[in-house]
Amino acid sequence: MKPTLYICREMPEEVIVPLRDVYEVDMWHSSSEAVPRDVLLQKVATADALWTVISDQITEEVLDIASHLKIIVNMAVGYNNIDVKAAKERGIMVTNTPDVLTETTADLAFALLMATARDLMGAENALREGRWTSWEPLGFTGVDVFGATLGIVGMGRIGEAVMRRAKGFDMTVLYHNRSRKHETEEMYGCQYVELPDLLAKSDFVLILVPYTAETEGLIGKKELNQMKETAILINVARGGIVDEEDLFHALHTKKIYAAGLDVFETEPVPLDHPLLTLPNVTVLPHIGSASIRTRMAMMKLNVEALQSWAKGEEPSHRVC
Ligand code: NAP
Ligand code: GLV
Repeated sequence: MKPTLYICREMPEEVIVPLRDVYEVDMWHSSSEAVPRDVLLQKVATADALWTVISDQITEEVLDIASHLKIIVNMAVGYNNIDVKAAKERGIMVTNTPDVLTETTADLAFALLMATARDLMGAENALREGRWTSWEPLGFTGVDVFGATLGIVGMGRIGEAVMRRAKGFDMTVLYHNRSRKHETEEMYGCQYVELPDLLAKSDFVLILVPYTAETEGLIGKKELNQMKETAILINVARGGIVDEEDLFHALHTKKIYAAGLDVFETEPVPLDHPLLTLPNVTVLPHIGSASIRTRMAMMKLNVEALQSWAKGEEPSHRVC
């Protein structure tokens, strides 16, 4: 008997084909709508393997039902959607998809930084809505990226890839990280600072730490007050790392200049969310890794992990 695999989103058939040789594959029928909780709970009860995406919350409640489950392959580098401790206690391995998305996510982070600095979305909307009436001396003006100071909170794979881009823009790069990166400092001339120092000195603060118990609410009222009034906050990590209510107040009262957000506490972000009412916020629907090549590479890693497990081999990129 083949083991059973449940895939929580519709994936392209050509990606799934090799898995059909080794698994009984069952798959949620939509690529754009999340699998409903009751369906997930029903499917996980008999699955040996589970393919998740970041919006699938694999909590203890799910794992308690998953009496056959041996492996979860998460199509993301971040795995805060999975209770890894509870999975480990139950002998369920979890894999993720690092590295293949690093450069694509760094591209997006830098694009969002630039779009926010120059309010590209605001300018485009003005053009489309007929508000481009003439060339204005101070019309559609933003702030410079070239030569500015970038503070990266979380100098991991993606943080370092963004730093390489920033160097091409002659930016001074400060960083804060759990551990010092001496080699990176030597190679790129970036400088380690404590978080308050980074917040006080940076023109752009970029959040790239994972979402964990330690980083939840890492940027709140106190931290936003430490930033320059001209500073821009960019979050491409996870929404819960920044307190959204405090961010709204900081932006509304011009304590900081602007924010660029690819991630939100609740995703999809509700359309009546206060942050969406502000003109100095650039928002994106969590598209950091969204290039075709990268998403295909992430799928391939999940397929490989599932194939390895089915052969009794150690899957790559285990997080537990
Ligand atoms: P990574 O290589 O693991 O980098 C994370 C960095 O954060 C590491 O250098 C780590 O320090 C540091 N860190 C962890 N906890 C910290 C803390 N409490 N205080 C300070 N630094 C801390 O991960 P990555 O591949 O760069 O990805 C980073 C995150 O980006 C992911 O976890 C995910 O949430 C997010 N992401 C978002 C998108 C998107 O679509 N928007 C796409 C991909 C990733 P150490 O070096 O000491 O471990
Ligand atoms: C996306 O957010 C990821 O963690 O890969």
